Order: sequence, then structure tokens, then C-alpha cells
Amino acid sequence: MAQITPLIAGNWKMNGTTVQLGEVERLAELVTEGDGPRCTVVICPPATMLERLNTITASAGIVTGGQDCHPAAHGPHTGDISAQMLSDCGAQYVIVGHSERRLGHGETDHLVQQKALAAFASGLVPIICVGESEDERESGSAEKVVLGQLAEALPDNWGPFGFIVAYEPVWAIGTGKTPTMHDIEDMHATIRKYLVEHYGENGEGTRILYGGSMKPYNARDILRLKNVNGGLVGGASLLANDFYNIISAV
Ligand code: PGA
Repeated sequence: MAQITPLIAGNWKMNGTTVQLGEVERLAELVTEGDGPRCTVVICPPATMLERLNTITASAGIVTGGQDCHPAAHGPHTGDISAQMLSDCGAQYVIVGHSERRLGHGETDHLVQQKALAAFASGLVPIICVGESEDERESGSAEKVVLGQLAEALPDNWGPFGFIVAYEPVWAIGTGKTPTMHDIEDMHATIRKYLVEHYGENGEGTRILYGGSMKPYNARDILRLKNVNGGLVGGASLLANDFYNIISAV
């Protein structure tokens, strides 16, 4: 069985201006003062802050990522940001297919796949999000929905640095609700099986993150589940202490 280094990624969403840098400085201090994290730590701030964050986080070993990218490298796409641009700002990861993009911007699985390929082309590791809605969970089709998303949104090939899958039940994001530990473990087992069937050994080593109301009080229980190789953390990544407590739960 492949040894997987866990990864905790903070998704700041559309939050963060210059004042937020104080929290990042505090986090870098906590990480440096401690024994060192037992996981890879990534912060995905708004693109406007990427470069400034990198100058603070680099010495603490914390890396950065974007929250989205356009499938093209450049061109007439007003307001969009390409994977190449994120990489140019020092990002190493990029979230693609977050449900807030799927729902708020009508993004399809196919588009998500194109974005993941663009990430590959720029040397970024895409964090590809999947997850069911509350209705889908209640009607018993959660697994079918997630398998459908994996089939359409994951790239056919592995890519230079691979990819990460984040399982984020839409109804758990920002709500304080989470699936039962049993349901999380079941879905992660389903995703692992899919990855191994399609990518062989690479699929065995692919990180599968859980996301959706991961907090300091539940992180330890979630992160110890089989096939949970880290977390994608929204709200709790904005405060240095909360995020550090989640990092320390690994
Ligand atoms: P949350 O967000 O931790 O605030 O629920 C997670 C996410 O959207 O990635």
C-alpha cells in the first residue's frame, strides 16, 4: 500500500485583503514554532494575494494555490485567470470544480476536466472537487453522482505531478453539518476503488481530501478515517489558530 503524505488545504474563497496577512504571519509562526506539520500545508487565497502570501509562508514550508483557473493559457477572457498566471505567482496547486463554481458559474464536469488539464500544462497540481447535493444524498444517489463526476471531470492521464480529489458534499459546505463518519469512509472507499481501477498504482497513491465544515473539533475524527488523506478547509482556514489546530490534528 502506497504511503500517502496527508495534505491540508485552506480555501479562503472570496475573503482576504491586506489585513488578513496578519493571520498568515501568525500561522507561519505557529508552524515554525511547533514540531513541524506532519502534512503538506496549502493556502488558496484570492489570486490578488498569492504573491504576498508566498513571501510570508515560504520560510514556514507552507505553499499556495489558486481557487480556479481558465482552461486556456491566455487570451480574450476578461476577468479570468490562467493556470500559467497562478504558477507565475508562485502557486503550486489549484482548486478546480468547487461546487460554488459549479453552482454559481454553471461549470460542467467537462469544463472541470479542461481546467485540470490546463493545471497539468502549467505544472500545477489540480485539486478536483466532487460531491453530491442534499437531495441526492437523501434520495440515495450520492455514490452514483460522485462516480459520474469522477468519470467526467478527472483527466484520463495522470499528469506530471498527479492530481488530488476532494470529496465535498455540497450540503456540508459552510453549514456546520457533516456526513456521519461511516458515510465519509464509505464515499472515500468508493473514490479509492475508482482511482485504483482507472489509474492503477497512481490511484493507490492519490490523495483524497474531505471538505465541508471541517473544524478543529471534528478534524481528528475525520482525518483518522481510512482513505481520508487530508482536508479542504473553508471557514476554519481564515483564522490562524483554527487552521493550525486542524493541521495539528493530522
Ligand atoms: P467550509 O468550506 O469548510 O467552510 O465548509 C469548505 C470548502 O468549501 O472548501
